[in-house]
Amino acid sequence: MFDDIAGLSRAELEREVRYWRSQSLLLARDFADVRADLARHAAEIGQLRAQLLSYAEDLNREYQLVRQRTIELERLLVATVGALANSIEARDPYTRGHTDRVARITIAFCDRLGWKRERLSIARMGALLHDIGKIGVPDAILRKPGRLTPEEYELMKQHTTIGAQILQGIDALVPAIPFVLYHHERWDGKGYPHGLAGEEIPIEGRILAIVDTFDAMTSVRVYREPLSMEAAVAEIRRCAGTQFDPDLVPEFVGLYEDGLIHRALQEEVTRELYAI
Ligand SMILES: [Fe+2]
Repeated sequence: MFDDIAGLSRAELEREVRYWRSQSLLLARDFADVRADLARHAAEIGQLRAQLLSYAEDLNREYQLVRQRTIELERLLVATVGALANSIEARDPYTRGHTDRVARITIAFCDRLGWKRERLSIARMGALLHDIGKIGVPDAILRKPGRLTPEEYELMKQHTTIGAQILQGIDALVPAIPFVLYHHERWDGKGYPHGLAGEEIPIEGRILAIVDTFDAMTSVRVYREPLSMEAAVAEIRRCAGTQFDPDLVPEFVGLYEDGLIHRALQEEVTRELYAI
């Protein structure tokens, strides 16, 4: 190329002009190609974006649907568990209200122990269903007001394993099994069904053993007067290290002394607790 066109001949000048014209035509074509490419990419990106947005909307809709169904299923499960628990009480009038009170106190107790929402929800199921295995115990034994014979007692003891078997068949209730299976084990190993001792007993069983016994002592039975809560708490304390976990007993005593057992048994508070 020439830097100075002043000294060019006409022929050279014409060649120069032709050269630059062809160059500018080539460039213009390139630009057009690039512009077309860009436009195509922009359209593709636009399409992708729209597609992604639509996927996100679908996913969100799906998530909301699953969430809604999960909530409905949870409600259904709680209602079913409540109905199952009531079916036991209908057969055993001496324990009317027992499972409901045990559930309230158990939730308050586990809450004090720092359990979180999901675990509290399992605790509620376990407490409500702890005696569900009594479905498999004959009426004559279940309703017998006096002492059971050794044979009758053996049959009664089976309510723990029968209960666990019932829950085994319902996936959502499997985590509640330790409450059902171990609530009659004792810290000293003299309980049933397995005679486990100390921390061999899952915490769920050690918790429920205290709450279940507390409510049994404070509720009305045909063959004896109920104990006052204070007397029942004293009895629980006396049995720390023999019947009950000695580390859990002071927590339970604290629960009582802080007025949280009374509070748990009040209906309006319970509604709140049941909304776990
Ligand atoms: Fe029981």
